[in-house]
Amino acid sequence: METEISKNIDKAAQLLNQGHLVAIPTETVYGLAGLFGSIETYNQIYEVKGRPSDNPLIVHIGEKSWIYDLIDSAPTSLEILLDHFFPGPLTLILKKAYHISPSLTANLPTIAIRMPSHPLALELLRKVGHPIVAPSANLSGCPSPTRAEDVLEDFNGKIPMILDGGPCQIGIESTVLSLLDNKPCILRPGIITEEAIENVLQTKLGSSGKEVLSPGMKYRHYAPKAKVSLIYPHDSVPFSSGWVLSFENELKGAIPFNHQNFYQLLRKADRENISHVFIFVGPILSKEKALMNRIQKSAGG
Ligand code: TXA
Ligand code: MG
Repeated sequence: METEISKNIDKAAQLLNQGHLVAIPTETVYGLAGLFGSIETYNQIYEVKGRPSDNPLIVHIGEKSWIYDLIDSAPTSLEILLDHFFPGPLTLILKKAYHISPSLTANLPTIAIRMPSHPLALELLRKVGHPIVAPSANLSGCPSPTRAEDVLEDFNGKIPMILDGGPCQIGIESTVLSLLDNKPCILRPGIITEEAIENVLQTKLGSSGKEVLSPGMKYRHYAPKAKVSLIYPHDSVPFSSGWVLSFENELKGAIPFNHQNFYQLLRKADRENISHVFIFVGPILSKEKALMNRIQKSAGG
């Protein structure tokens, strides 16, 4: 199968409706999309990604109103969150409607839903007229893709089309927020911070505790082939042993990175056969919760 990189939305919609997988741009990372409602499509996604079957998929919606058909009941915080953060990089975990297939939710009684803000993703969703399921469009365990070329690296010849929406603006995956308990809590940190959600809801969020609540968080993730190590201000800087990255310009002489290009740099390190990537954790980076979460996971933590 030839994988085509194209901006043709009509073709992407047609392929999805025929049961094929299409990689799509979102504002966070590219997604590996399939049509909602087909167990064969879900199985195909798990197979192509090499994803463990106990890690459920996110449903993407094209209108806020689509959410109500997917969930069992609406907690009071839902309307406020939809008003403030949809469309955008926030995924909500809610009790699923009875008709949602357990193959989609990995047998959990809950469902993950988000409405992407990328104009091409929204246009596609509205053209298809149905929700789309989409995990990040990377091989399981690899850094998420933030450009069409990154998707091609992982899935060339395995999917018919990548809808090209240019580089993703945010560059790391959405914040995952559970609304299952009285106190909402963050299961995966992202660009929408705990503080931002607390401001909007006018309440403190709960803590997700020690147990794994978001199945995806237990796997080693976001990891390149290169070894990734963290270094701190008192460590000597191993400039001659590999690449040294620092958040923006925290460390002089290092390669600067930010949310947007972090995954791209990890992929580039692999293409250039860099064996060791050192990430300088200075005082500014140490406060970037979402990025620190990805960095720790890419280092195997
Ligand atoms: O930004 C994003 O969220 C991207 C774009 C493509 O939308 N998608 C993404 O999907 O990152 P994925 O499948 O790579 O990550 C989804 C995360 C996983 O950690 C998964 O375990 C969690 O959401 N998740 C999905 N359904 C869940 C549920 N019912 N309960 C708890 N966590 C859930
Ligand atoms: Mg992922």
